[in-house]
Amino acid sequence: MNILLTGGMGYIGSHTALLLANAGHQVHIYDNLCNSNIGTLDRVQKICSKSIGFSEGDVRDTEKLTKVLRDAKIEAVIHLAGLKAVGESSQKPIEYYANNVQGSISLIQAMQMVGIKTLVFSSSATVYGDPVYLPYDEDHPTSPTNPYGRNKLQVEEILRDLSVSDKEWQIACLRYFNPVGAHESGLIGEDPNGIPNNLMPVIGQVVNGKLPLLNIFGDDYDTPDGTGKRDYIHVMDLAEGHLAALIWLQGNPGCHTFNLGSGDSYSVLDLLHHFEKASGQKIPYQIVERRPGDLPEYYAKADKAEKFLGWKTKRKLSDICNSSWLWIKNSRKS
Ligand code: NAD
Ligand code: WQD
Repeated sequence: MNILLTGGMGYIGSHTALLLANAGHQVHIYDNLCNSNIGTLDRVQKICSKSIGFSEGDVRDTEKLTKVLRDAKIEAVIHLAGLKAVGESSQKPIEYYANNVQGSISLIQAMQMVGIKTLVFSSSATVYGDPVYLPYDEDHPTSPTNPYGRNKLQVEEILRDLSVSDKEWQIACLRYFNPVGAHESGLIGEDPNGIPNNLMPVIGQVVNGKLPLLNIFGDDYDTPDGTGKRDYIHVMDLAEGHLAALIWLQGNPGCHTFNLGSGDSYSVLDLLHHFEKASGQKIPYQIVERRPGDLPEYYAKADKAEKFLGWKTKRKLSDICNSSWLWIKNSRKS
């Protein structure tokens, strides 16, 4: 299949591009590089020894996007492009709505222009908001608590309306839990611009001496060790989830929602201790105040993806930490 990845130069997109190319698909990336680096393309191509197409552009540029879809004879799109910093989305909500919601509308219009009707959308577990019950299943009420989460939910709703208006669309909204880890080569991984917010990139910066220590946001939650618990999912498992969704969508029109998570949750201290074991390094940390907006715990009910897509996570927390450590070590050299 000829597949376009918007935002394919980013963390999740680069791993997905690699997996799809290795599975024999023709991959074309469309990215404006606002949170990624062109050097990633060479590294992905080096790992898979395959050629991957690239066009630099903004998803809001409908005309350019339409031309790329046409020229590369695209048959399906994975839409990963977007801004993703939860805190920043509250400071710059209009920027987030313009990029994430308007950008998605522009993509749909470009796809309509060319007649492509297969789409996988990067959604997020953040659409659920405060848990009414756990684990979150796909029918859990949605009530996002920040503009970023509302962007994701709005795009899901737009896609549902689209699939009702035109029955030929085949759409999967994948609600990712907490993606972490790196490709086993250690050549690609998460490389955020600026100061990271997420736990694993912060740990990476502590190990690489860019930050003096890890601030753990609260140890007084109602969890076994008092720190927050999350459903961490290896980025290569996540990449495999995209391929499974693309395959399943052929012959399954409509707009479908799937949780992509492991179904387990681990605390901040669990992750830290696994990382210390993987790296042989002691990570200095201090307990600080809870981070506003953080939930004590959440994790996925992941049965639907297993039942329909035949997909479930294979990799463990130790695999996550080993691959992250390899990537962090390698990125220290460059
Ligand atoms: P990332 O920032 O590494 O990758 C996103 C890519 O999109 C970047 O390469 C960026 O340059 C590009 N981009 C952003 N706006 C664009 C635009 N207007 N036009 C073209 N390209 C644009 O993020 P990621 O972690 O790889 O996330 C990918 C997707 O998955 C995002 O939509 C994100 O919201 C979603 N998601 C991420 C997580 C997570 O924790 N990483 C969790 C759930 C959902
Ligand atoms: C994980 C745990 C923190 C940093 C976010 C988004 C979510 C999704 C994934 C996009 C929590 C603790 C963290 C630190 C810490 N993204 N922590 N010190 O907040 O679960 O989810 O990313 O869709 O929408 O909200 O991820 O990695 O920031 O935090 O103690 O310096 O680590 O309190 O318990 P989060 P995270």
